[in-house]
Amino acid sequence: FCRGLSSSAVRSAVIKHVTIIGGGQMGAGIAQVAAATGHSVTLVDTCEDILKKAVKGIEGSLKRVVKKKYADKPEAGEEFIQKVLQNVSTSTDAGSAAQGSDLVLEAIVENLKIKQDLFGHLDKLAPAHTIFASNTSSLPISDIASSTDRQDRFGGLHFFNPVPMMKLVEVIGTSATSQETFDALFNFSKELGKTPVSCKDTPGFIVNRLLVPYIMEAIRLHERGECFCHGSKEDIDIAMKLGAGYPMGPFELSDYVGLDTMKFIMDGWSAKDPDNLLFTPSELLNKLVAEGKYGKKTGEGFYKYK
Ligand code: NAI
Repeated sequence: FCRGLSSSAVRSAVIKHVTIIGGGQMGAGIAQVAAATGHSVTLVDTCEDILKKAVKGIEGSLKRVVKKKYADKPEAGEEFIQKVLQNVSTSTDAGSAAQGSDLVLEAIVENLKIKQDLFGHLDKLAPAHTIFASNTSSLPISDIASSTDRQDRFGGLHFFNPVPMMKLVEVIGTSATSQETFDALFNFSKELGKTPVSCKDTPGFIVNRLLVPYIMEAIRLHERGECFCHGSKEDIDIAMKLGAGYPMGPFELSDYVGLDTMKFIMDGWSAKDPDNLLFTPSELLNKLVAEGKYGKKTGEGFYKYK
């Protein structure tokens, strides 16, 4: 872990106007949290229908927050929701949105070429001071940044799902990221009410670098039928919840994350470092993905869902 905040961090660039590209699970969550902490947010996606759905989702999520936080002051709660929603605008034109932004944060599909094309395009349109950041889970930030001429103003901001609930943000600086940019991203994460940690641009940063090999070893353990008499994934899930205090067992967690995502991450890391035993593929995981069993989102993964 290379960096801490510089001593001049308190004076780092202020991020007020944010463009978030990708109105899916992550982008909508980040937009909500940024808007709720007083930032002006433009949420960008490819079509109006997706954006409408994203804003509806934000409103629903805010209602749940307000139900708890403003239980005895419903009017103040409604006022808060309206104030937050006023901070969110939407657009299908990433280029024009970026023109008025201090930060462009990308949360689109996990595909290197598509992310590079997006940032390469925006690099020509965004003002010089605008910082670019990616929410990628598994791709090297430096590979994404290489499509731009602002690698000093490019970093990673890795949020966790569901964004409004999860406190952590991994702030990733590449070897080219300037200290000023890193400080600005770190401070921005704090302004969102999150706890940032500093990471190097290495596969999986901190959390996924530990979590994904752990889940993969649980799957391999299940495949090998080692360690336990009845040989069930249920036993492993129970053991890790009750023995290690994890809120979900590894099979429940991988169904929640998505088995397709797990496989995508594993395949990418394994291609880069095929001799690393931690990145050994699992036949069972590959089979489930080939059958379209991606976990909760498709109704079946390791477990079945109604
Ligand atoms: P998602 O599939 O829910 O949303 C992606 C959105 O991006 C979609 O609405 C899609 O229409 C839009 N999009 C795709 N290409 C676009 C383009 N060129 N311009 C504008 N919009 C575009 O995906 P999700 O889960 O929100 O993930 C987004 C990113 O966040 C990925 O890089 C993923 O690795 C990362 N991430 C995901 C986490 C998760 O638990 N789902 C956790 C942390 C990071």
